[in-house]
Amino acid sequence: MSIVYLNGEFMEESQAHISIDDRGFLFADGVYEVVHLYNGRPFEWDCHIDRLYRSLNALKIAGVSRDDLVRARERLVADNPGREASLYIQITRGVQRRIHTPPTPGMLAPTILMWVRPVEPIDPQVVARGVAVITVTDDRWAKVWVKTIGLLPNVLARGQAADRGVYDAIFVRDGMVMEGTSANIFRVKQGVLQTAPVTNYILPGITRAVIIEIAKNEGYRVLEEPFTVDELYQSDEVFLSGTSTEVLAVTEVDGRRIAEAAGPVTESLLALFHERAQRS
Ligand SMILES: Cc1ncc(COP(=O)(O)O)c(C=O)c1O
Repeated sequence: MSIVYLNGEFMEESQAHISIDDRGFLFADGVYEVVHLYNGRPFEWDCHIDRLYRSLNALKIAGVSRDDLVRARERLVADNPGREASLYIQITRGVQRRIHTPPTPGMLAPTILMWVRPVEPIDPQVVARGVAVITVTDDRWAKVWVKTIGLLPNVLARGQAADRGVYDAIFVRDGMVMEGTSANIFRVKQGVLQTAPVTNYILPGITRAVIIEIAKNEGYRVLEEPFTVDELYQSDEVFLSGTSTEVLAVTEVDGRRIAEAAGPVTESLLALFHERAQRS
């Protein structure tokens, strides 16, 4: 039995229904967040909710109470005590007979859905060995910084990765490395970290920001500057960062070996990240 939150009410998952006229269903007119729960505590809650409101504001979706989100979170977390879990929040513009023109902000009650579900940690052997990725052309829209539920390019790119038997696909725009389908990407060269700068073409990851902070505290130089696919190939280490991914070494890109296993910088950042997550 699993309880979910839908529009102010808690209910059995099987009882939660969304209208066929929901604009999320019809137009992908909505946004989402995923927050990891370490020992029942939400990691970087305020950062996630700030980003959620930036996404809502970008779409001009109004009428979401921060306090209601906290109350819903508390109840859902209480129902899933002591487990490594993930909190999902999805907010759509609401229910309206199908018409492209969005209603005046505030005229429609948004659909708010939240759940907490247990997550399996990534297999430690995979963490140690690292994963393979391919690069793909970034054919997403120009507002990638908005965390919209319109994830079809990400889904198709992940499908391409799966077809090639690799873990993820890395979006490349005009020759520059952007990010993975659900994670940001870092390279390490001669002890210097590099990741794509925050522009409208990447999602500003919460984990990315935490890793940059941890790395700088450790004395690493971190460049938030564009880099090419060739530079990616020539890295000493490459890793992904994300809420579900945490810090995951990439040891092969487009069939080229980067390293035999997770490198020392990746491993130390992952350890420091875990320390911080357990402390939070
Ligand atoms: C496209 C994309 N980039 C980066 C990230 C990583 O963001 P975060 O660290 O906030 O989970 C995600 C997470 O879902 C994502 O979907």
